[in-house]
Amino acid sequence: MSETTLFKVTIDGAEVEVAPGTTILQAARQLGKHVPPAMCYYTKLQGSGGKCRTCIVKVTAGSTKDPRPMPKLVASCRTPVMDGMVVANETSPEVIEARKGVTEFLLINHPLDCPICDQAGECHLQDLGYEHGAQKTRYDFERRTFEKIDIGPYVQLHMTRCILCYRCVYTADQITDKRVHGVLDRGDHSEISTYIEKAITNDFSGNVIDVCPVGALTDKTFRFKSRVWFTKPVFAHRNCPKCTGKVTLWYKGEDVLRVTGRKDKWGELEDFICNTCRFETKKTADWVIEGVVDVDRHSVISQNKYPVMSEKPVVPQLASKHTGEGTWDHQLK
Ligand code: SF4
Ligand code: FES
Repeated sequence: MSETTLFKVTIDGAEVEVAPGTTILQAARQLGKHVPPAMCYYTKLQGSGGKCRTCIVKVTAGSTKDPRPMPKLVASCRTPVMDGMVVANETSPEVIEARKGVTEFLLINHPLDCPICDQAGECHLQDLGYEHGAQKTRYDFERRTFEKIDIGPYVQLHMTRCILCYRCVYTADQITDKRVHGVLDRGDHSEISTYIEKAITNDFSGNVIDVCPVGALTDKTFRFKSRVWFTKPVFAHRNCPKCTGKVTLWYKGEDVLRVTGRKDKWGELEDFICNTCRFETKKTADWVIEGVVDVDRHSVISQNKYPVMSEKPVVPQLASKHTGEGTWDHQLK
């Protein structure tokens, strides 16, 4: 059995060995630090990436064989590593400046309506805005506006918030059996729409909500019900004939306000879930509760939880069923 020779890559001074064909972004994720932001790339969606340019990095040495730097910043989600490649991400002032420019472009037409947007607290553009955004806009022209389009009973479209990352289009193409929406027109006129406003009714269409990095596609059944940081995420599963049935339930008090797929630490879905699990199964009795989601303490969702939850669990059976690791108390202290 032949062993694959690994490529050694250095990212912001840290070394990692990865398989040939790995992109710089994935190499950074394997390293676990110095990871560029990614607004359009999505591991499970073929063809994704290369649209938003938030993941740009500087390649200061192409490879051991040819150590010349790459002449321009490159999209790390689409650039494969070479053996001996040296990459600068957070350590390059040029990258930071360029990322600031990309953020400014993304925010040209994006409304700053985070206070009323359901995606607030989970929005990658909001994070990017905090990290790289300018305080003022330099854009004098009128913002894009759109006629409101109803795309069905479950998914709310806010076209003004869309950054045209194409993730929802790839999701519909690759996860559902019949795509009825896509990006219409080009350039400044581009918009996500359904052909003749056909509703997105496919069984897996709700996944477009989870993959959307901003608040352009949100859950109609959760709309305006709560800020996400006032809800408590809990892992649960059920026997589902259509999908894995592995989800995150978002509780407020004893009510499940929404159901989403489970996301990994890069914010990407572990499994795509069906619309029955997502929209129509919102009673605790429908689910086998596994335990609280270990929320990254840097996330805004971790607010409002740690001191309060240890006294009064939201889901009563958790307190009696679980002891030690995985209990509310253990996780929330
Ligand atoms: S609606 Fe969301 S997922 Fe779809 S292209 Fe726009 S930003 Fe991306
Ligand atoms: S994540 Fe690489 S270009 Fe968007």
